[in-house]
Amino acid sequence: MSAAKNKLNHLAIIMDGNGRWAKKRHKPRAFGHREGMNNVQRITLAANKLGIKVLTLYAFSTENWARPKEEVAYLMNLPVRFFDKFMPTLQENNVKVNIMGYLDDLPKKTYDVVQRAMAETRDNTGLILNFAFNYGSRKEITTAVREIATLVSNGGLESDDITENTISEHLMTASFGEYQDPDLLIRTSGEMRISNFLLWQIAYSELAFSEKAWPDFNENDLKKFVENYQNRHRRFGKVDESDS
Ligand code: FPP
Repeated sequence: MSAAKNKLNHLAIIMDGNGRWAKKRHKPRAFGHREGMNNVQRITLAANKLGIKVLTLYAFSTENWARPKEEVAYLMNLPVRFFDKFMPTLQENNVKVNIMGYLDDLPKKTYDVVQRAMAETRDNTGLILNFAFNYGSRKEITTAVREIATLVSNGGLESDDITENTISEHLMTASFGEYQDPDLLIRTSGEMRISNFLLWQIAYSELAFSEKAWPDFNENDLKKFVENYQNRHRRFGKVDESDS
């Protein structure tokens, strides 16, 4: 009897390798980020077609501020370029934009453009395109702990009543409800690490790694990774009847 296929509701991607991709072509790193940005559009539309509900993309980490000033400036301007170029297509495809991260620390122009993108697509009901931008998972968990501690000290919550759900509800993915934890996390460009991304949420996610740099990771690659995921055997820590 063949097992039922896994449903892929939430896909998360660490889009790595833009810099190396550009270097290989004797171009500045920004050239790689620009092509990476164009690829975001291609993969978003492909994910939408595949029926994925939430696509979370790691676009800028809280650690990325340590990059050279010009590169940070370029990355901060990417949302401006991206939404300028692609907003009509996102609208046509019913895509809802979300940006999770410490948005108050963004330059005003970037802050305004991401707020506008979220507001303009608020009522769309298709794929949620969720950018992690100025995001760091340890900071996110620290913020959640602080919020919960404040609730306890105000008498709004008993410490004995803190559950795993309490923590999930205070993370930036809380609004995705039943889809808040990724089913599958893909990292491109051959590195095998998590880099402070969704540490709590990926407890039971399937992991996959592509050797391709992000700008080269195309719709066919996505399809293959999704098919591979659909046929995996997820046990969530349990023993399978067929294994006992
Ligand atoms: C990692 O590659 C990539 C980034 C830090 C930036 C990712 C951003 C995009 C792909 C565009 C995002 C688009 C929007 C709309 C925000 P790297 O620079 O670390 O590459 P390397 O490891 O080869 O140096």
